Amino acid sequence: MSSRVPVIAGNWKMHKTISEAEEFTQIFLNLVKDVQGPEIVIGPPFTCLAAVSSIISGTGIRLAAQNMHFEQSGAFTGEISPPMLKEIGVDDVILGHSERREYNAENDSDLALKMAAALDSGIRPVLCVGESENEREENRTEEKLGGQLRSDLVNITESQLEGVVIAYEPIWAIGTGKTATPQIAQETIAFIRATLAEIFSRDAAEAVRILYGGSVKPDNISELMAEADIDGALVGGACLDPESFAGIVRFE
Ligand code: PGA
Repeated sequence: MSSRVPVIAGNWKMHKTISEAEEFTQIFLNLVKDVQGPEIVIGPPFTCLAAVSSIISGTGIRLAAQNMHFEQSGAFTGEISPPMLKEIGVDDVILGHSERREYNAENDSDLALKMAAALDSGIRPVLCVGESENEREENRTEEKLGGQLRSDLVNITESQLEGVVIAYEPIWAIGTGKTATPQIAQETIAFIRATLAEIFSRDAAEAVRILYGGSVKPDNISELMAEADIDGALVGGACLDPESFAGIVRFE
């Protein structure tokens, strides 16, 4: 059993208005008030961050944004900067989600800047990496993941690595109902940890939390969490309902 504290994070994506977010958060807080153990992270859209921040204040639940610009301010229409997020009480930022890489042309050089900007601003980055179905079938998973890790973490020092969370999200498992088997998730996350050991050091790699994401639900979280290298989950669809997300947070 590793000493890494598990992280269960929910990515709401483009779901919920402020009133829906408030209702979710009140119900969810009640369902998890006695939970000890995992760090719980809620990732609402930008418009709901302030409302959720004031409801969860003092509970220990962490608040995540789903994207962030790397500059502090400037002529970047439609973007949100690190100090803007800090002011609201944001703790974490999800970076490099495959949907942003695909639909918003988020690339590895921007991500390298965003990773450094997040850490410099005291916001913990949750960096998503993952391969497509074709890449897995063509045996290019390791090449893809290794490339993403080396590029996205290029500005990060060994001592900063502990403050980073990595999420392994195979693109073929996101929103498809096709969860990676615990064995595939474990094997791939072990590869990610070995790559981090090569880039940084064995000790730094052992300390990093690496999550699995892709069709995680209350009924498959336990078998995933039983694997040695899986330190938590990044949850999409199943985090939108308070009972379902609480069921995941309460994995045995
Ligand atoms: P999913 O999404 O749980 O709906 O598959 C996971 C994610 O995109 O983080």
